[in-house]
Amino acid sequence: YIHLVDSKSYICLLVGFISLDCGLPTNTSYIESTTTLRFTSDIPYINSGVSKSLSSNYQILFQQQYHHVRSFPQGRRNCYTIGIKKDTKYLMRASFLYGNYDGLSKLPTFDLYFGDSLWTTVKFIDESIDITTDIIHVTSNNQVQICLVNTDNGTPFISSLEFRPLSSETYVSTTSLLHYNRLDMGTTTNKTYRFPDDAYDRFWVPFNFGQWASISTTLKIESDDNNYFQLGSVVMGTAAVQININESLRIQWESEDETTQYHVYMHFAEVENLQPNQTRGFNITYNGQYMYGPFTPHHLSTTTIHTTKPIPLQKQPTKTHLFSLVPVENSTLPPILNAMETYSVIDLSELASNQGDVDAIRNIKSTYGIVKDWEGDPCVPRAYPWEGIDCSNETAPRIGSLNLSSSGLAGEISSYIFNLEIIQTLDLSNNNLTGNIPAFLSTLKKLKVLKLNNNTLTGTVPSELITKSVDGSLLLSVEGNPNLDACLSDSCAKKKSEKNSVVIPIVASIGGLVAIAAMATIIFWIVKLKKNRQNGTGVLLESKRRQFTYSEVLKMTNNFERILGEGGFGMVYYGLIDNVQVAVKLLSQASGQGYQQFQAEVTLLLRVHHKNLTSLVGYLNEGDHIGLIYEFMANGNLAEHLSEKSSRVLSWQDRLRIAMDAAQGLEYLHDGCKPPIIHRDVKTTNILLTENFQAKLADFGLSKSFPTEGNNTYMSTIVAGTIGYLDPEYYKSNRLTEKSDVYSFGVALLEIISCKPVRPLTDTDVHIVKWVNSLAARGDINGIIDRRLDRNYDVNSVWKAVEVAMNCVSEKPAKRPTMNQVVAELKNCLAIELERIRENQALNSTNSMNTMSIVMDYSVSHPLAR
Ligand SMILES: *[C@@H]1O[C@H](CO)[C@@H](O)[C@H](O)[C@H]1NC(C)=O
Ligand SMILES: *[C@@H]1O[C@H](CO)[C@@H](O)[C@H](O)[C@H]1NC(C)=O
Ligand SMILES: *[C@@H]1O[C@H](CO)[C@@H](O)[C@H](O)[C@H]1NC(C)=O
Repeated sequence: YIHLVDSKSYICLLVGFISLDCGLPTNTSYIESTTTLRFTSDIPYINSGVSKSLSSNYQILFQQQYHHVRSFPQGRRNCYTIGIKKDTKYLMRASFLYGNYDGLSKLPTFDLYFGDSLWTTVKFIDESIDITTDIIHVTSNNQVQICLVNTDNGTPFISSLEFRPLSSETYVSTTSLLHYNRLDMGTTTNKTYRFPDDAYDRFWVPFNFGQWASISTTLKIESDDNNYFQLGSVVMGTAAVQININESLRIQWESEDETTQYHVYMHFAEVENLQPNQTRGFNITYNGQYMYGPFTPHHLSTTTIHTTKPIPLQKQPTKTHLFSLVPVENSTLPPILNAMETYSVIDLSELASNQGDVDAIRNIKSTYGIVKDWEGDPCVPRAYPWEGIDCSNETAPRIGSLNLSSSGLAGEISSYIFNLEIIQTLDLSNNNLTGNIPAFLSTLKKLKVLKLNNNTLTGTVPSELITKSVDGSLLLSVEGNPNLDACLSDSCAKKKSEKNSVVIPIVASIGGLVAIAAMATIIFWIVKLKKNRQNGTGVLLESKRRQFTYSEVLKMTNNFERILGEGGFGMVYYGLIDNVQVAVKLLSQASGQGYQQFQAEVTLLLRVHHKNLTSLVGYLNEGDHIGLIYEFMANGNLAEHLSEKSSRVLSWQDRLRIAMDAAQGLEYLHDGCKPPIIHRDVKTTNILLTENFQAKLADFGLSKSFPTEGNNTYMSTIVAGTIGYLDPEYYKSNRLTEKSDVYSFGVALLEIISCKPVRPLTDTDVHIVKWVNSLAARGDINGIIDRRLDRNYDVNSVWKAVEVAMNCVSEKPAKRPTMNQVVAELKNCLAIELERIRENQALNSTNSMNTMSIVMDYSVSHPLAR
């Protein structure tokens, strides 16, 4: 829970320090006189904002990097992109001194973003008081993006940005840390110390409390030769001391809410020369609970005692935090404290958009010379994408809509638009665009709205676009282009006549002038059609019809006659509705969470249809009786078929097909549903098999209402999932993403390959991931794959599958593939294996059949979202 830092390290000071003076008018640098640090201009890192300087009053009072600010009167967001070292722990600091630089005497308030995450809201107390905020974060890329966001409370500005690499052994935590306080205790000056007094350039603020005394030494304080924190003598040479020997030294603070968690670091060194008959010893308690001790600070040598888990523990939420240094009975001297740091836990995401989309949109920007606030990552922070852009919610967000209406665009329609692969809405209306409407627009698969009206486009409208417009898949506007031939070419007319015989004769007979009117008619017709569909009572009625009463359920299961098994949420029974076999899952009442949420989720799930997802036939929600009715899966679950007890062995080909099926089901949940549905409990017992061994994923989507329960599962309302399959990163961070499912799928795939139990059964066993890793490292593929396959497989296909699985279980979620990529890779594995089988059959027509063969309804098409 709390422990001493104890290992050796040596840090090369200054290496990698980045110090930016924001707003320095020219791209120059200087050595700041008090710190001797070199500050450089921020000009290379940002393209927006204006340089402003503070009055000489402030220039006298503050260090040089505060003398100028970069101010951002334009744009909602303005972003710095700064190259740093990847996978490195940094102290990152932003400083702000208003100093009435704009002469408005009005303190602004604005937001500061790090990557996709809100770092802090910058609020000032006084125009002459600077605000500094720092975070400790391990970088995951070789650049960071820091944005200032205008929240309509004044113009954002910034004075300086500083980056200080730290030893990776300092401030160990599974999360990033936001500076809460950093106190120099017992100091007799009111000076804030930083570099060179502090090797890492932390800001140490003087802290004195009336009821404490202060002791100090002028002798040098060494760091324990094993203390990474590198505190200087100035900070450690003074200590706060409790005046009364028998009293505790107490530090208490209140947080705004009970869930804010902190990491605390206390630094101790004895600064007095103790006589042989003197001792100083104390225990450390937190909210009355013993945490560490008895502890005696070492003479002139720093020891750091810190939390290893954030406080308060999640199980004991509290707003009040009280640390006490309690003297032990035989202590003749009161407790001391030389320095203390408190950080709150912060989740900082360095999300970055899909690189292809970033390149495309940057090219579009430069093609048209767009002067909007288009800087930094187009989709990040997601709360403030570039103006005119909407993005998807993926782990690497993609551009889903681009609105450049009335943006003064001239020239032709940029071919870079073609690279925005998933764009759904494109609005280029009310510009001066010239040239033809390029045919590539019709190849953008997801495009649903295309507005080109009020430009000066010429030529004809590509026939594919018209076809799409006619069949209702594209809302196309081209009116207001005086020289555009909306639909006059033969092919276009022909296409149209196939689709719509009513409109054509009019166009044909009256000719070009009416073409635009015809387009308008088509659009009107489409709009009307769409409206009709939406207003249709289908969806609502449908979901109502699928609600069953308890007595109906009794009847369909013949009073729960036949038990099929026990699933994640309760017992599963066999049932019949109008002679269709179903599985009725009765949810255990212990789950007792919001039924309303259950209703909402079920309504959503009723609309999820995919050949690799068990489909929900209906549900029961009557008083205490809650249940789900699924299609019946004749061949049970995959785990049973992989088990040693299973009488027949699934062939390698079968396994690949099943894995692909499951992967496609999961891919659909992630990509085909909006918002994406995260399964949370992917495992082989949740992969069910139809009569002809088509695999379907079960038990998805209800995880919000019903955390999984039962012997095999991790019992927590926060972290749901099954031990062995659970993403360790999710377990650590509690952040659920599609990548957690990818991890679980990877584990399931390893199980499919090896038939080895996922979890250690004996003490000498290891987790399947470790086990495969060690064999794979030795190149022992035959040791990994299920022995019962008896070498009936293509080794390359197996290797590839192992590789896919191992990528899925990468520790870092960012390194894991998307399900989309997994499906593609598995497809390759299958192709290799099928090739082997084909060759074998050619060689030997009497193929030995020691493995079971399955005929499957197999297709590799990717269904689109409904
Ligand atoms: C400790 O020893 C010193 C002499 O070395 C003496 O003056 C002092 O009173 C002693 N203190 C205690 C608490 O016994
Ligand atoms: C004080 O007492 C504790 C046990 O309560 C013991 O471990 C420690 O060694 C003692 N310290 C001294 C200096 O006698
Ligand atoms: C694009 O932006 C303009 C003005 O901001 C707005 O009127 C128009 O509806 C937007 N287009 C789409 C397709 O949302």
